[in-house]
Amino acid sequence: MKFAVITISDRASHNIYDDESGKRITEMVRARGWTILEYSIIPDDYDKIREEITRMCDDLKADVVLTTGGTGLTKRDVTPEATLSVVDKRVYGFEIAMMMTSLKYTPKAVLSRAVVGVRGKSLVVNLPGSPRAVEEILPFVLDVIPHAVENIKE
Ligand code: MTE
Repeated sequence: MKFAVITISDRASHNIYDDESGKRITEMVRARGWTILEYSIIPDDYDKIREEITRMCDDLKADVVLTTGGTGLTKRDVTPEATLSVVDKRVYGFEIAMMMTSLKYTPKAVLSRAVVGVRGKSLVVNLPGSPRAVEEILPFVLDVIPHAVENIKE
């Protein structure tokens, strides 16, 4: 399976801090024997997020686009809105299951508004931004992704 990873963070995109979450995602995906087509870091900008997700799905033809960051409640957190504006179908069950998984670790999980959707033949999954959140939730996400991708391709 072919993956694209997008870190969405003003600070990481300006090199104010290292993008640990994006790197961790690429490691965890590769550890399962899957391919990372591209990994990019962009600011919390609605139009840039839309463009980048669209490019990863339509031009790069990634089976899965994983985003990390910008799912919370601050003024700059617009990842869910940008994602919703470019997907054809929303996958509510996946979103709920991610929330249930995260709630086992922290009640603060309720602050994430992460969206999962399908654009064309690509699955788009928003993950929260912290490296800890990625570590906690990604194993579950990667477990279900093969079934989702198979279903999308039918
Ligand atoms: N989910 C897990 N599994 N673990 C976490 O530590 N942090 C929460 C939530 N989801 C967290 C989590 C917090 S504190 C916030 S603010 C939201 O994710 C949104 O994070 P984001 O804006 O970086 O995407």
